[in-house]
Amino acid sequence: MTQTLLLLPGDGIGPEVTAQVRRVAAALTPDLTLDERDFGGVSYDRHGVPITDEAVTTALASDAVLMGAVGGPKWAGVERGKRPEMGLLGLRKAMDVYANLRPALCFDALADASSLKRELVAGLDIMFVRELTGGVYFGQPRGIETLPDGQRRGFDTQVYTTSEIERVSRVAFELARGRRNKVHSLEKSNVMESGLLWREVVTDLHRREYADVQLEHMLADNAAMQLVRQPTQFDVLLTDNLFGDVLSDAAAQLTGSLGMLPSAALGEAGRPGLYEPIHGSAPDIAGQGVANPLAAILSFEMALRWSLDRPAEADRLFAAVEAALAVGARTRDIGGTLSTVEMGDAVLSALG
Ligand code: IPM
Ligand code: MG
Repeated sequence: MTQTLLLLPGDGIGPEVTAQVRRVAAALTPDLTLDERDFGGVSYDRHGVPITDEAVTTALASDAVLMGAVGGPKWAGVERGKRPEMGLLGLRKAMDVYANLRPALCFDALADASSLKRELVAGLDIMFVRELTGGVYFGQPRGIETLPDGQRRGFDTQVYTTSEIERVSRVAFELARGRRNKVHSLEKSNVMESGLLWREVVTDLHRREYADVQLEHMLADNAAMQLVRQPTQFDVLLTDNLFGDVLSDAAAQLTGSLGMLPSAALGEAGRPGLYEPIHGSAPDIAGQGVANPLAAILSFEMALRWSLDRPAEADRLFAAVEAALAVGARTRDIGGTLSTVEMGDAVLSALG
């Protein structure tokens, strides 16, 4: 049975960085079938929607899906339902990938690229588990309405059910067992009802099934402060969709560059995962061939590990990225001068 990886290069630097994934895959996993579809603004321009039904069907039938990036100023005026970002949210929902794993790992060779002091980030290895298909991103009702007095009122709904909280918490506890056995669950139970329920459900699941894992509850604002004060205190951080979006960007910068970090969005076992570099489309450097392809390449590494059941190839690829960095391969964002293709070359040559 051949496995298929669907590439969704998308917008901005997406096509440039996913092109390097193609090269790595050709060298490392030549038997893997690569497929490709339009996604995001590019898809809107060609098909009038940020993702076609056919692309969604293809994604669901693939073994894994790897996207580049979506969005950009060109589509800022597009009606909300057809914005590039809505293609991504729709795809996450359709694939039911409710657990978003976002590692923030500081490669030793890059500890000086962090905006924090080396001693605070050296050896950093933390993992966000962000709920990805619920919360305020999807809650109804939402909208902008006009009030009788002529003012306008914008509103969103933050909402979680017990089963949504429980299934993502389970992923966090399971992951922690294979790591340093510690979970921090982040919410705002001091002001939000959904935060209160979040804390109750996590506490209850922990007591019933994961009492061996160390669990701490932390208010999300305090967690933001602790992340820049002493990030190495954390192991697994469990969050809702919105707090996870915000805090994982902060954590990414701790590692030196947003251009380095991959992510994996997972659903039930046996379903395809969605792999995303966490950087955006970076319109300011798109098309110049200078973007760092490592986040995309490491997202492929996560796909090998979590969806394609190829841990040996994943280990080889991870070691190759480490080796390339150790011999000084650097794109601009991490203090070097290599182009996107040259960074791809460096990883390929380290793969041997
Ligand atoms: C992310 C991004 C997305 C999100 C956007 C592009 C919709 O910021 O993956 O973190 O908010 O989830
Ligand atoms: Mg984000």
